[in-house]
Amino acid sequence: MASLLLLGVLATALSVGEIPARAGDGAQPLREVVGGNLAPQGRFPWMVRLSMGCGGALTAPRVVLTAGHCVAGSGPDTSITVTAGVTDLTSSRAVRARSVTVIRADGFLSETRGDDWALIRLDRALNLPTLDVTQAGVGGDKGPFTILGWGQTSEGAVRQERRLRYATVPMVSDAACAKAYRTVGVQLVENESLCAGRRGVDTCQGDSGGPLVRKDGRGRWTQVGIVSWGLGCARTGYPGVYTQLSAFRAAIRIATRRLS
Ligand code: ARG
Repeated sequence: MASLLLLGVLATALSVGEIPARAGDGAQPLREVVGGNLAPQGRFPWMVRLSMGCGGALTAPRVVLTAGHCVAGSGPDTSITVTAGVTDLTSSRAVRARSVTVIRADGFLSETRGDDWALIRLDRALNLPTLDVTQAGVGGDKGPFTILGWGQTSEGAVRQERRLRYATVPMVSDAACAKAYRTVGVQLVENESLCAGRRGVDTCQGDSGGPLVRKDGRGRWTQVGIVSWGLGCARTGYPGVYTQLSAFRAAIRIATRRLS
C-alpha cells in the first residue's frame, strides 16, 4: 500500500544499515501498537478495525473516521468491512458493518503530504459510543496522548495483532519532528501534522487510520489525530506522524453530516 511506497522513498534516502530496526538496550521493554499494553474490553468502545488493515474511529453511529491513505478515493465503495465493539477481532461478540460511501479529503495526495483523513459511511448505524473530534484552540494539541491499534508490535513483525493494544506517548514539537524527517528527505507538513512518540513506543504498520486521543477537561476521550506515517516504527529520534485534526475539524464536521 501507500506505506510500502513511503518505505521505498525513505529507503532511497537512507544509507543501508544506518539505523538499526530496533534498539534493544533494555531501557524500554520492546513489546507491543509498539511498546504498549492490551486494551481492556470497553475502554475504547469507538475504536474499529477496517478490512484493508487500518484502524478507525466511530464519529457518528454510521460514520468512521480513518486516514486518507487507507481508502481508494471518494465515491461509492462497498469494499470495506468494519469490525467494531471488541478488542479481540476473533470474538463472537464482534459487530460488523460494510462501507457504502467514502469521502476522502479533497487535497489528499499521499500520507506525507497532509490532508490524510477520510470518512466512511456504513450500511447501518452501530449502537456504540462515538468519539468527538477535538475542539480547536483549547491546548488540545499538547500531549500526553493515547495511541491504539491492531498493528504490528515491532517494525519487523510479519503479522498484525488479534487483540487491540494501546500506549501513552508525549507530543514532539513540529520543529524537532520536521528537523528529524528533513534528514531523510521528507518535508513535514507542519500545520497539518502532529508528531508524538518516545523511545520504544509508537504506532506501526496496521495502526494507520486509528485515532490519537486524549481526555478533555471533563474526562471524555477526544480525538486529536489520525495515525498517518513514520520512518519505520519506534526508532529513536523519529516520532510517529499524525493528521492534526484541529486543522480539519470544520471540514470533517460538514462531511460527517453529509454521511450521517
Ligand atoms: N502508514 C502506516 C499504516 O499504514 C502507519 C505508520 C505509522 N508509523 C509510525 N512509525 N508511527 O499503518
